[in-house]
Order: sequence, then C-alpha cells, then structure tokens
Amino acid sequence: MDFKNKNVLITGASSGIGKETAIEFAKLGANVILVARRKDKLEEIETQLKKFHITTMVLQCDVSKKDQVSEISKIVLEKFDSIDVLVNNAGFAIYGSVSELSIEEIESQMETNYLGMVYFIKNFLPSMLAKKSGHIVNVASVAASFGLPGIASYCASKFAMLGFSEGLKHELKGTGIGITVVSPIMVRTNFFDHPSFEQMPQYSSTSLSSKTVAKAILKASTSSRLEIIVPSVVRGAVWLKHTFPYFINPIIGKSFKKQLDSKK
Ligand SMILES: NC(=O)c1ccc[n+]([C@@H]2O[C@H](COP(=O)([O-])OP(=O)(O)OC[C@H]3O[C@@H](n4cnc5c(N)ncnc54)[C@H](OP(=O)(O)O)[C@@H]3O)[C@@H](O)[C@H]2O)c1
Repeated sequence: MDFKNKNVLITGASSGIGKETAIEFAKLGANVILVARRKDKLEEIETQLKKFHITTMVLQCDVSKKDQVSEISKIVLEKFDSIDVLVNNAGFAIYGSVSELSIEEIESQMETNYLGMVYFIKNFLPSMLAKKSGHIVNVASVAASFGLPGIASYCASKFAMLGFSEGLKHELKGTGIGITVVSPIMVRTNFFDHPSFEQMPQYSSTSLSSKTVAKAILKASTSSRLEIIVPSVVRGAVWLKHTFPYFINPIIGKSFKKQLDSKK
C-alpha cells in the first residue's frame, strides 16, 4: 500500500512500539494522529516527525475512558473525515498472581487493553464502513495464545482482543475493511517499568526491538491475515500448544510458575 497522505491513528504513541510505529508510517508520508495520556511525550514525538513534512495531531486521551475516546474521535473526524489505519496499541500489564492482584488492578488491564480497543473501533468503524475502506491493527501479544501464571489478567485481555478481532473479521467480510492482530513476543520498551515487574529479569536474549514490531504493524495494515505473530517462528509454538496442549501447557506453566514463586 502507498501510505502517502493516508491517515493513521495510533494509540499508545507516546512510547515504545507506538512511537516507533508513528515514525515508520511518517517516513512513508502518512499523516499521523498520536494518542496517549502523556501529552508532553506525544509533543516531543510530533516535533521529531516534522522532518517528514506530514500532517500530525496530538490528542491526550485515556483509552479506558469511553467519553474521552468519543470526544477525541469527533475532533479527529472533523479534521480528517476518515481514518485509513487504526492501530490499537495502548496497553500495559501488572505482574502478580490472581490472589495478589486487587479486583481493580485486574479490571484496569481489561479496561485499557481490551475495552480501549473496543471504544476506538466503535468510534471509527462507521466512517470506515461509509468509505468502504480502512484497516484496523490490534496489538496483542503471544499472551493472546498462552494463559501464563503471573500475568493471567493481562493474558485474558489479549485473548479477548484476539477473539473480538476474529469475530469482527468475519463480520467485515466484503466491506472493504480489514482487521489484523499483531502478536509479538517480549519487546524492549518501557512496558516492564511498572513496579510490579521490579524483581523480574528484564529482557531475554530473544527480545525484539520496537522497530521490528513497528514494521510488522505496517505489514499488518495491508494484510488479509487475522494474526501476525512476531517473530513468525513462534507460530510453531502456538501450533504446538493448540495441537498438543497436554504436553506443552505443563512445560510452559511450570517455567512461568517458577518465576512467579521466586518473586515471593
Ligand atoms: N513490550 C513487550 O514485551 C510487549 C510484548 C507483546 C505485546 N506488547 C503490547 O504492545 C503494546 C505497546 O506496549 P509497549 O511495549 O510499547 O510498552 P510502553 O513503552 O510502556 O508503551 C505503552 C503505551 O501505551 C500507552 N498507554 C497505556 N495505558 C494507556 C491508557 N490508559 N490510555 C492511553 N494510553 C495508554 C502509554 O502511554 P501513556 O502512558 O502516555 O498513556 C504508552 O504510549 C501494548 O499493548 C502491549 O501489551 C508489548
């Protein structure tokens, strides 16, 4: 796809994968709408994007608040009349067992990671349907395929994202609108700065750069696939889990549980 003058909205654009995705789209001449809670960070990125001579917009928004999403969506549609690519990337995790986490901590992950995506889709899908074009990219995780001890509620939010996307993909058949989930393994970003990850080993040797994931998001925005797992070799692990769950699940569960127990 030629991204020149296409309108791309990215949530969670103030850091990590979202920030890198904004840069990659801008390099190709797309107009970029940057959404997150930290306006100062978004403005710094907007300044960095000036050299690409594109149109940019910064919008402060907590994606878990449906009124805020509805308010900024109106502002975007007044200026751009439609969005060509919607990247639902805002998300976070709180590490800890279900018995340690409060109900509010569990709810907050679902509200941001899952409902935040739903709110953006509900606000931008009508204009995409009217135009009969557009692509939604939802940033999930391999945690959308594995329920892991220590991040059960994060996994639930990403499973929900994948399930919603799969159902919606069927509904969108023949409308000209696509939807693709990008599911990376561990990525070197500020994601693990949350205090709950304090005692965790930071990054594995196989962890990805946010640029690698940003490139996968660009690929996803023209893809007919439901899910792009990054790196693609991990598709094998997901296949193994679904095909031989009784063999694979105990191995994965044991290794993550060991890590969770060592935190205590
Ligand atoms: N890093 C990994 O290992 C990894 C692996 C797989 C998937 N992912 C997924 O990748 C996505 C991006 O994460 P990242 O790794 O780039 O982490 P990051 O550097 O911490 O970035 C997270 C982004 O989400 C935004 N955000 C969080 N809560 C928000 C809210 N309520 N409203 C609006 N924006 C919010 C943050 O902006 P503000 O704080 O400014 O609001 C920030 O821009 C997440 O969905 C994450 O689940 C990450």
